[in-house]
Amino acid sequence: MRRGLSGNPRSIAMHPSFVSRPFGSEQGRFLALDLGGTNVRATLVELGGKHDVRVLDHRSFRLASTSGSTDDLFGPVADFLMSVLTEHGADGMGYIFAFPVNQSGIRSGRLTKWTKEFAFDGVEGQDVVVLMERAIRDRMDRDGDFRIRALANDTVGVLAAGAYLDPRCDMGLIVGTGANLAVAVPNDMIVRRDLPASVGNTSEMIFNMECGNFDGVDSIQTDVDRKLDAESDTSGQLMEKMIAGRYLGEVARLRVLEAESKGEGFEGWVGEGGDFSAPYSFTTEQLSDIIFDDSDDLTATAMELGRLGVATTTTDERRHLKEICVSVARRSAGIVAESIVATATYIDPGLNDEHMVAVDGSVFRGIPGYREEVERGLALTLGEGADRIQVCYLRDGSGLGAAVVAAVTASSRMEGG
Ligand code: BGC
Repeated sequence: MRRGLSGNPRSIAMHPSFVSRPFGSEQGRFLALDLGGTNVRATLVELGGKHDVRVLDHRSFRLASTSGSTDDLFGPVADFLMSVLTEHGADGMGYIFAFPVNQSGIRSGRLTKWTKEFAFDGVEGQDVVVLMERAIRDRMDRDGDFRIRALANDTVGVLAAGAYLDPRCDMGLIVGTGANLAVAVPNDMIVRRDLPASVGNTSEMIFNMECGNFDGVDSIQTDVDRKLDAESDTSGQLMEKMIAGRYLGEVARLRVLEAESKGEGFEGWVGEGGDFSAPYSFTTEQLSDIIFDDSDDLTATAMELGRLGVATTTTDERRHLKEICVSVARRSAGIVAESIVATATYIDPGLNDEHMVAVDGSVFRGIPGYREEVERGLALTLGEGADRIQVCYLRDGSGLGAAVVAAVTASSRMEGG
């Protein structure tokens, strides 16, 4: 983190967001675009100015593909957005682009690399605001003008939304398809000197850590983790590959394959014909469902496996599979807890202040017992100090946050900032 904040990032990039947390007094009607996976969302948000938020409209659509040309990505998103824009007026739009973007200002930033399942050509290295605005303007009347007010990572969004609702919030966490953290850093800890003052509160700036890329986890990687990484199209993201929804099912599947090859059961599971033998065939949703199954002989698990073409299984094998799923999920939650501890104690080594992490994402919300495991991890590491850190789930927090970040930008312009 220190290296990142001094402008010499290694595996934790610490990308500046150019914006601070909101004051909670920002007002207006803002549109939020949340682009971070195939489920693209637009939300119209009314900020009341007293730490209160109302969602006026929320729509989503599913991208047909995760790869193709630049137009295959920005074209359908712009079409979708046009349908929302023609219906609703707004004071501005905030744009969440939930991939590693090296921002050079509040409304500009280049994609450093694709992560999760995305692989559209011609976007890496490009300014994702320019590409989005161009696609929207192409769909407007000739003299139409359209400007995105603010660009932010989804972790920055969930942090901003959390802080609008509760000023104690100083960290934003996503544990969904991908995983990452953002943190509000006081100016005296920002070692690099090339950054302008933040939009909003000039005494701090939010940083998108991109800590899913942290490679310090190599010391705890197993053979399965190394295999998953070697076979993945996404480079780096070693920590994300241990904690995020894109990967947890595959980690469990590879662990089953490993056990089978050592003669520890699962005979015939990976044989030809069954889906279980195909990479990524066992999903994180299925892993969740198996953890959820608490019947004595794991009947629901047997049915789930039947759907994957594994027709005959013993109760012992199903129990073993459940143990694997539980341990994969538990490890994810443990690493998430350590990441929160590391971040909180970096900005406040003595944990003298109260901290709050706003969290969004399907893994955090969906895996049974996940949240409790994160809290257990905090308590294991910090003992009573864990009371200083609250972890709060905030549904659609990143979308709300896009509106909040746009509002911070709009009100600082009004004040001449
Ligand atoms: C991306 C981050 C994002 C995270 C959660 C990761 O794959 O690199 O930018 O915040 O997913 O969506």
